[in-house]
Amino acid sequence: MSMRGFGGGGGGAGYASSFRKDASVTQHRIARGTTRRVAGYAKPYLRQIIAFLLINIASSLLVVATPLLLLRIIDDAVDNRDTRLVIILASLVAAVAIVEALLGLVQRWFSSRIGEGLIYDLRTDVFDHVQRQSIGFFTRTQTGSLVSRLNSDVIGAQQAFTSTLSSLVSNVVTLAAVLITMLALSWEITLISLAVVPLILLPARRVGRRLAALRRESMGYNAELGSMMTERFNVAGALLVKLFGTPETEHVEFASRAAAVRDIGVQQAMSSRVFFTALGAMASIATALVYGLGGVLAIQGALTVGTLVAFAGLLGRLYGPVTALSNAQVDVMTALVSFERVFEVLDLQPMVSDAPDARPLPGGPIGIELDHVTFTYPSASEVSLLTLESGRADREPDTPPDPDAPLTKDFGRSSIDKATLRDVSFDVPAGQMVALVGPSGAGKSTVTSLITRLYDVGEGAVLVGDVDVRGLLSESLRGAIGVVTQDSHLFHATIRQNLGYARPGATTEDMWSALDDAQIGAFIRRLPDGLDTIVGDRGHRLSGGEKQRIAIARVLLRSPRIVILDEATAHLDSESEAAVQRALDTAMEGRTSLVIAHRLSTVRAADKIVVLERGCVAEQGTHSELVARGGLYAELYATQFAE
Ligand SMILES: Nc1ncnc2c1ncn2[C@@H]1O[C@H](COP(=O)(O)OP(=O)(O)O)[C@@H](O)[C@H]1O
Ligand SMILES: [Mg+2]
Repeated sequence: MSMRGFGGGGGGAGYASSFRKDASVTQHRIARGTTRRVAGYAKPYLRQIIAFLLINIASSLLVVATPLLLLRIIDDAVDNRDTRLVIILASLVAAVAIVEALLGLVQRWFSSRIGEGLIYDLRTDVFDHVQRQSIGFFTRTQTGSLVSRLNSDVIGAQQAFTSTLSSLVSNVVTLAAVLITMLALSWEITLISLAVVPLILLPARRVGRRLAALRRESMGYNAELGSMMTERFNVAGALLVKLFGTPETEHVEFASRAAAVRDIGVQQAMSSRVFFTALGAMASIATALVYGLGGVLAIQGALTVGTLVAFAGLLGRLYGPVTALSNAQVDVMTALVSFERVFEVLDLQPMVSDAPDARPLPGGPIGIELDHVTFTYPSASEVSLLTLESGRADREPDTPPDPDAPLTKDFGRSSIDKATLRDVSFDVPAGQMVALVGPSGAGKSTVTSLITRLYDVGEGAVLVGDVDVRGLLSESLRGAIGVVTQDSHLFHATIRQNLGYARPGATTEDMWSALDDAQIGAFIRRLPDGLDTIVGDRGHRLSGGEKQRIAIARVLLRSPRIVILDEATAHLDSESEAAVQRALDTAMEGRTSLVIAHRLSTVRAADKIVVLERGCVAEQGTHSELVARGGLYAELYATQFAE
């Protein structure tokens, strides 16, 4: 009976949540303004929060009602042999129970409305914000960590918020109500009951800390398990395992992580069981004390039997709130830390974003110009969060990233000699085709990233249609440029959906004509599901050439004014290469195009060839000019270009 108050009533929420918390968070310094921002998120729910708190207070006050009614039954009704009063009071006890249950339901309704609403708000904010990050952010970020920030941290923030809110308010009210009632009944027994409190508090705090540490450790292992599964179970990862790995080593690695989760689970279960057992024992001992001492007092006539029974009931409702409140500081800090981790993502400024006065591209044919461009890939601290870059760092959420710490993967800050591109200048006049050639790693793909403004240049400028790309609306810029890379990505969806992604309003006819131009229409007509064929994860159900031609159709659908091809046929066998090349020729027809190619015939057909070497323009000119020069191009021509 005495355990009832520990599980139910006002103290319940506080108990469960204090196990999740880590005492170390109390040492964490919360950034100023975090509380205000949290309040900002809570604001739309102000009315619901107030209603929720009022209901909490009401149900906390009800906690003392049952013991007091029991007191009346014994002292007033039973002693006076008043059957009618016994029945009335007993009905009241039942009524209180029903009201408590109903209040519990309403309370849950409000807390889920507030909590889920908060999750929705935070999650959509983070999603929108992450989408606006530059591509550098994504190359630096481990997908798993980012997804966990969107999932567990957002949920953690919400849970901490609602449970802290209700636990703080209802425990304070419950504690006050129970203590006042006890004092009013008998201050002697109250003092004795309170003497047991330190005996409960000390182990409660210790075990609470241990459980929190265990929980965090197990979350880390669970995250590792999860990221191992996501890495292995997508088609590309599964292929790699099939071709290079062995099921045995995979099993050993997975099993060792799973075993860690299992062992921690056992420890967690035992720790919390020991804790609850000890708590139950303490409460029973306290009950024994109350009955022992109270019984003596009752014999002496200093106390009624009803008071004694009421006391025992109140006692069960005393220790829960005491324990929960002892961890209140940790609770509040944990809530704020979860919010901080979410805010950390929200505060990340995208490196590339539209200027306030950005304008659309001018109409008509447009060319490209690189004007003394120097560029270095940004370091992690510039584009991402160190805590998101590796899964491990994610486990130490309490250490803020040190901006001065040496970055192991730093590609040299803006020092010119280490720059990926140095003083690169060339142009692609409107309607012409320029070939970009050079050894692997020379910076060719980097040039294409700067034209589409996936990154911003360090020095110099990239101009499209004679306008600095930094002054253009990104939608307008990207709408005008069609890019085909060596391994095009398709979403796990139908061909129709993949094409529609490029141009949402496209009709079926538009799609077929793009597919025909891309030399893939006939193939798709032969598929049993036609346009509604699902291409599989990253398009794995198609051959490289088929996938590439669908990607080209996707570009054609947008009818871009500029076409950029980055080794679009590099991965293909000669047969599909020929088909893809025909598709590409259609795509480039009458358009400004920049082509990174390894086929001599493509390079030869270019109006101009730009040779890039270690980030610099080594030479530029027509095929015959460059061959005559006898430089790097002549060398590449002799050794590399396949015919
Ligand atoms: N996202 C990136 N972050 C940092 N360095 C990069 C990134 N992408 C490419 N690099 C580096 O930039 C250099 C040029 O790469 P890239 O432009 O892809 O060469 P190419 O396309 O000519 O083979 C290489 O040294 C490469 O390691
Ligand atoms: Mg490349």
